[in-house]
Amino acid sequence: MNTSDGRAAPATVCRWAVAGCGWVARDHFLPGLLAAADSRTGGAVPRLVAVTDTDPAAAARLAARVPGARTATDLPALLAVHRPDAVYVATPNHAHRPAVTAAAAAGAAVLCEKPLAAGLADAERLVAACHRAGVPAATAYDQRFHPAHRAVREVTASGALGTITAVRITYCCWLPPAWSPDGRPYDNWRADPARAGGGAALDLAPHGLDLVGVLLGGDDVTELTALVQHRVHPYPVDDGAVLAGRTGGGVLVCLHVAYNTPDTLPRRRLEVVGTLGQLTAVDTLGQDAGGRLWLTDAQTTRRVPVPFDTGTSPFAVQVREFSAAAVSAGRPVGRAWPWPLHRDLTLHRLLLEALSPARPAPPPPVPSTVEEGRR
Ligand SMILES: NC(=O)c1ccc[n+]([C@@H]2O[C@H](COP(=O)([O-])OP(=O)(O)OC[C@H]3O[C@@H](n4cnc5c(N)ncnc54)[C@H](O)[C@@H]3O)[C@@H](O)[C@H]2O)c1
Repeated sequence: MNTSDGRAAPATVCRWAVAGCGWVARDHFLPGLLAAADSRTGGAVPRLVAVTDTDPAAAARLAARVPGARTATDLPALLAVHRPDAVYVATPNHAHRPAVTAAAAAGAAVLCEKPLAAGLADAERLVAACHRAGVPAATAYDQRFHPAHRAVREVTASGALGTITAVRITYCCWLPPAWSPDGRPYDNWRADPARAGGGAALDLAPHGLDLVGVLLGGDDVTELTALVQHRVHPYPVDDGAVLAGRTGGGVLVCLHVAYNTPDTLPRRRLEVVGTLGQLTAVDTLGQDAGGRLWLTDAQTTRRVPVPFDTGTSPFAVQVREFSAAAVSAGRPVGRAWPWPLHRDLTLHRLLLEALSPARPAPPPPVPSTVEEGRR
């Protein structure tokens, strides 16, 4: 953008802070922020100014990667000293609500990791706090921003698939009790119902539920049922689930999510089925760029690759777009955020309601005699 005398206008900077400096902040958010800062496109340049974590070593490791970034002992201290424009909350699920509430009350825009909270009451209080504060607030559904998913949205909106009948999503991984993102000793809170709020279903299904509405131009899932399993891993949370849903517009939705699928198997697939054709995306669900996308024509059965930018991380686009919304909030030409938090809360509630009556399959019968056991 140029000023009236033809000189380049100084870029607006969005000053970011991070609360919770673990795996996703370190390996995905920060590289995304740095890439977005480098690309210089969009309305604001993101800059990391301060971080905090209950583990000071984790905070120090993240800050050390960005010249000038500071650590703070806790979030209230960080907010008071550094006054960030935006805060990325990437703590375990049970700690989202206090962090989001503090950041919003300090006037910062908030990008909170999914799921919104471990339970419904906390999620409702979190959303209410953001509304009270009037700050831009969003769930960090990075997969909305994957270039392949944006291409899916465009093809779907063009009518090329005819009448959309179904969306099928498989999003699975391998997460044993002693799982660690990088092989180092790790406190696997995902296996702890108090901190995670649930297992594979609550961790992985929110991405799919969000994506359905995003890909269908706002036609969100409004009915949902679930079956969960405790099949492989000896922890108290579910390690797999299938969910069946229907959107308000009548599209059927199937989700299979799991912690019990070896990472070496095909495990990330998205299909949008229509009366004229089907889009299939493979290995696009997740945190990284890349994957494959093709359109199968119902009449010719030909598979045509659908081009998309395979080099841009969904996290980079997310940071870029949320930075623009954060720094323009309240201005007459402010960048509106298209996915209001109360919509994310509605989907969170739907998922928790579907999961609450869900019962695991009964365990295999225990042999009643030694003889029977030997057979
Ligand atoms: N969008 C995605 O694709 C994606 C991917 C992974 C994780 N996540 C979400 O991100 C969040 C973090 O997941 P993770 O895998 O990075 O976990 P992690 O355990 O690797 O990191 C969490 C960090 O938060 C710190 N922490 C704990 N309580 C805190 C508090 N009260 N204040 C500040 N820091 C605190 C921990 O010390 C740890 O460093 C979760 O909500 C998870 O569901 C999202």
